Amino acid sequence: IPVTLTVDPAFRVGPVRRRTFGSFVEHLGRCVYTGIHDPAHPTADADGFRKDVIELTRELAVSTVRYPGGNFVSGYRWEDGVGPVGQRPSRLDLAWHSTEPNTVGLDEFMRWADLADVEPMMAVNLGTRGVQEAVDLLEYCNVPGGTAFSDLRRANGHADPYKVRMWCLGNEMDGPWQIGSKTAYEYGRLAAETGRAMRMVDKDIELVACGSSGVVMPTFGEWERIVLTEAYEQVDLISAHAYYWEEDGDLGSFLASATDMDHFVEAVTATADSVRAHKKVDKRIHISFDEWNVWYQKRAESRPPSGDDWPVAPVLLEDRYNVADAVVVGNLLISLLRHTDRVHSASLAQLVNVIAPIMTEPGGRIWKQTTFHPFAQASRYASGDVLRVAIDSPTYETKQYGDADLVDAVATWDEETGSLTLFAVNRSTTEPVLLDIDLRSVPGLRLLEASTLSNPDHTWTATADDDTSVAPHANATAQVRDGRLQVEVPPVSWNVVRLG
Ligand code: AHR
Repeated sequence: IPVTLTVDPAFRVGPVRRRTFGSFVEHLGRCVYTGIHDPAHPTADADGFRKDVIELTRELAVSTVRYPGGNFVSGYRWEDGVGPVGQRPSRLDLAWHSTEPNTVGLDEFMRWADLADVEPMMAVNLGTRGVQEAVDLLEYCNVPGGTAFSDLRRANGHADPYKVRMWCLGNEMDGPWQIGSKTAYEYGRLAAETGRAMRMVDKDIELVACGSSGVVMPTFGEWERIVLTEAYEQVDLISAHAYYWEEDGDLGSFLASATDMDHFVEAVTATADSVRAHKKVDKRIHISFDEWNVWYQKRAESRPPSGDDWPVAPVLLEDRYNVADAVVVGNLLISLLRHTDRVHSASLAQLVNVIAPIMTEPGGRIWKQTTFHPFAQASRYASGDVLRVAIDSPTYETKQYGDADLVDAVATWDEETGSLTLFAVNRSTTEPVLLDIDLRSVPGLRLLEASTLSNPDHTWTATADDDTSVAPHANATAQVRDGRLQVEVPPVSWNVVRLG
């Protein structure tokens, strides 16, 4: 099947933003304990952080990491996690029916973030707490010294302020499952007042208001309108969360999940802009897509324990990803990139063990899921400006999203280095596609590398024993001739072509 694409620097959407390639570490399951932190592991450093996890986080090229939740944050007392570890309390974590030992807290996370070379993105608890505790936490993090909480940080061994820039005002406050969930108006007011007070402490912070936990939430749209009507002046971004999974064997719809993400971003943008019009202001609100991924939510492992036991770091949400999941993750990255004018930040949820690209065995091996690869490649190779790609593709019918293009793609163009990268997926479940790409507006490009992630069996799943036999491999069909790039891409595939 031939599909024609046109790449032209005139189709610029905006800059590639490093923050598009963020991730997320929550106190949930084995993300922190036996994930990033495992003192018994042979590679653990003096603080108990696994060096092999840090190395893979760097290889994944993660920019920001959101912390400490997620649903967890809505019942969290940050003070429990600072000071001498031996004196920290254990607490019930109501969100995940677990025991939180508080062995890892704020100062440990900041140390880890430094080692992993990521920018921390903090969330404050607006479920069970409010303005004062958020301000106290910000004082602990960002005030140089001379006040109770900044001096406490110094006494805990951290003379310099952390200067955390990005702050989430709560988490999924629209969700009935959230501890302390609120109506849009209640939350909008609280977000506005918390944000206003936080900015009195540090005017340079960037604030993210909670948007909807999903496009299917009954309050979607109206939630954003009311929250932004209340908090427009105080916040910079509004969040979006979306998880996708293959349901009842409907691979075609699953592979078209990015059309839903496109719709999500465009609907939130329109809502934010309508509030802007009504308020008659210049400021625009941007989107922090701070939870997105494939997540098989209906699997038993996604449900927290419910018995009398409150385990520490139980196995939770440990999805194993196959090749089709990786193609969807790649396609979601394409969607985020093509909305770079409005999506200013995003976080793959999550980083380790919990719906994650990186998996660890307690005290043992580390391995990459299939989803590791598209993220690492997009983060590494997207540079310069994002270009919308004009796509002339046959469509196929999906049960969930109507007609969808067989091919989806985005490009980035780095004028300084003269390099152009094309990211493309083939959503056909059966047919290879010949991509015929018109590059005449960027003359003189030569092929540097073409790679494809695919497998005759798209259900192939990586394991600790074999996480390498299906990984991006060279695509020998790629060739550039007379200003056109042609490359054949197999069914259910993620593809990266680099030119320079
Ligand atoms: O990422 C897992 C969970 O999904 C987060 O805790 C929550 O914010 C979302 O519902």
